Amino acid sequence: MNELKNDRYLRALMRQPVDVTPVWMMRQAGRYLPEYKATRAQAGDFMSLCRNAELACEVTLQPLRRFPLDAAILFSDILTVPDAMGLGLYFEQGEGPRFERPVTSAEDVRKLPIPDPEQELGYVMNAVRTIRRELKGEVPLIGFSGSPWTLATYMVEGGSSKVFTRIKKMMYAEPQTLHLLLEKLAASVVLYLNAQIRAGAQAVMIFDTWGGVLTGNDYREFSLHYMHSIVDGLQREHQGRRVPVTLFTKGGGQWLEAMAATGCDALGIDWSTDIGEARRRVGDKVALQGNMDPSVLYAAPGRIEQEVAAILERYGQGEGHVLNLGHGIHQDVPPEHAGAFVEAAHRLSRSYHL
Ligand code: CP3
Repeated sequence: MNELKNDRYLRALMRQPVDVTPVWMMRQAGRYLPEYKATRAQAGDFMSLCRNAELACEVTLQPLRRFPLDAAILFSDILTVPDAMGLGLYFEQGEGPRFERPVTSAEDVRKLPIPDPEQELGYVMNAVRTIRRELKGEVPLIGFSGSPWTLATYMVEGGSSKVFTRIKKMMYAEPQTLHLLLEKLAASVVLYLNAQIRAGAQAVMIFDTWGGVLTGNDYREFSLHYMHSIVDGLQREHQGRRVPVTLFTKGGGQWLEAMAATGCDALGIDWSTDIGEARRRVGDKVALQGNMDPSVLYAAPGRIEQEVAAILERYGQGEGHVLNLGHGIHQDVPPEHAGAFVEAAHRLSRSYHL
């Protein structure tokens, strides 16, 4: 029951030897797959899909039926946590996520509750349990959350942003208000991820999509500090097995040493950082996940294969690498190109694990 048929992903995160480099793709369940679009249409809207354990399980498994991926990732969203805090998440057609009640004042922050993961977020735990049952031990299941900073950007901006005017205004004009918000988010995320682990997530990942828009000092104070407190609060072992934690700050290539010092097991890196240099910098402290530019998947399979070969060569011989994209897969990529990426990862990496 507890045995995994393929544990390469977990082994690589713990820098143990593997036969080939494990591979998965951020946002591997999604709109580039026609079967995803069909299930999403059946559910109605995106949040109804997330709230339906059977359908969330179905879309989690869809990419695994097509490609020999080494991990499954829970189908959900990082914005479930602010939604559970009462902000009213909705998706406007073609406009991305929005909140009905964004956080605009210190008073709003003081009133925010810390959600009970088994209550308001119980639908996520049901999805985790359903997916674990249906995976039948084929590959590990990754649970996830947004970082406090990244969640705060959506909560204060009211949705996606390119310039982050409102949250930066709060950061510089009312830093204590932002710190209170981040503290509440960090406490919520610890409860949420520990509940995912108890429900069956075998590894967890923290997405800090917007940490890279900060200065180095602000990154440490407003983003990394809270990810560090989450790492400290996580249940790192479950049913006798270590639950590895991956931190991913998009655009965080300058801060890898500081990120590795949090005690996490692995760092996700995007394509703007050379993975060979990243490895030299973090040494044997953490594993690395990455880092192909997702746009390479627009290229023909031969070109995708070249890029996989280049990443494997830069990382070099031995343990500690999980192949992935440097950010989520684009929605207009041909599924066969994603297949070429996964296939090349396994075929070309064998000689690096002798
Ligand atoms: O990786 C997976 O396959 C698991 C599912 C997953 C989703 N979102 C599904 C989703 C994960 C891990 C996320 C994380 C997420 N969500 C992040 C961090 C990772 C990153 O990409 O930077 C962020 C910033 C979000 C917030 C979010 N959710 C945005 C900005 C959007 C709209 C963007 C878009 O692609 O339209 C979403 C919606 C969303 N989350 C979709 C999916 C498949 C598209 C919804 C749809 O079906 O229309």
